Amino acid sequence: MDDFINLLPKAELHLHIEGTLQPELLFELAERNKISLPYKSIEEAYEAYKFQDLQSFLNVYYQGSAVLLQEQDFFDLTWAYLQKAKQQNVRHVEIFFDPQSHTNRGLPLEVVMTGISHALKEAERTLDISTGLILSFLRDLSAEAALETFQEAIPFRGLIQAVGLDSAERNNPPSKFVNVFDKARENGLLTVAHAGEEGPPAYIWEAMDLLKVSRLDHCVRCLEDDQLVERLKKEQIPLTVCPISNVKLRGFDTMAQHPLKKMLEKGLCVTVNSDDPAYFGAYVNENYKQASDILHLSQENIYQLAKNSFLASFVSEPQKEKFIKELDDYRTSQKCVNL
Ligand code: ADE
Ligand code: ZN
Repeated sequence: MDDFINLLPKAELHLHIEGTLQPELLFELAERNKISLPYKSIEEAYEAYKFQDLQSFLNVYYQGSAVLLQEQDFFDLTWAYLQKAKQQNVRHVEIFFDPQSHTNRGLPLEVVMTGISHALKEAERTLDISTGLILSFLRDLSAEAALETFQEAIPFRGLIQAVGLDSAERNNPPSKFVNVFDKARENGLLTVAHAGEEGPPAYIWEAMDLLKVSRLDHCVRCLEDDQLVERLKKEQIPLTVCPISNVKLRGFDTMAQHPLKKMLEKGLCVTVNSDDPAYFGAYVNENYKQASDILHLSQENIYQLAKNSFLASFVSEPQKEKFIKELDDYRTSQKCVNL
């Protein structure tokens, strides 16, 4: 199954670019920008990446992001991820970035946008990976701060496909951000939101009904509400699930307890993603492999997850068809190999 997963064409739809900062690059950028780190060595940084919950992770993640200062830093970060994505046969990626975690440190938004978007263009040109960018608001900051960030981002509107909502979920419901999401949709952007990672099913309803999201990020707590599951199934709203992230942040004690397979069996449009691969020690293929091993997913399940990743992406319908044809051809070739 590992070989089948390695070469499987797939899309990654839930990936925070700041969460791809490997300790090696963290140290390189800290030195480049003369920033002191709370770790003595790369090994000590790896050791520190053990988390009790979402907040304990976010503290380390925002601290790591502080080494990013110049356009070149954002380019290098994004380029390193895209090369990894290429190795894992990711054919299309939609990348989250957290502008407020940088503008709050005094960086101009232009530095962030230019560095990331140049790397995306370079990947389209030389790696044959298609890309999209999602501007994510930090939900533990105010609604006014999100609106200000959105206004600042309007000149870069052409580089962004959607807005999202991330950071500490508890006590920060989607309803807090109705205005800025309304404005984003008026400006022709799609919307997504993290919901039901640590927060209750009520936040998932709010994300759908108030923020009118096209996709839900995580959504693993949906199984606590049967009516919600019915709605997600009926409308086939895509869910970007990140199994290893959920175990690392202690939403579930072990992978064996993760609801991914149940969600698939209930007919939900589930996808598999990595979230913050540098901090969880696992890129997208490791997520497919661990979920597959421990939850006993079939080759057909894996195929469905990859197909869902293309169906759930924000590419055009003809491009979706091309990707799915590539996936179907791959599956046919593998059936021949297995005969
Ligand atoms: N920012 C980066 N990773 C996140 C996650 N898993 N949940 C919420 N916000 C995040
Ligand atoms: Zn996330």
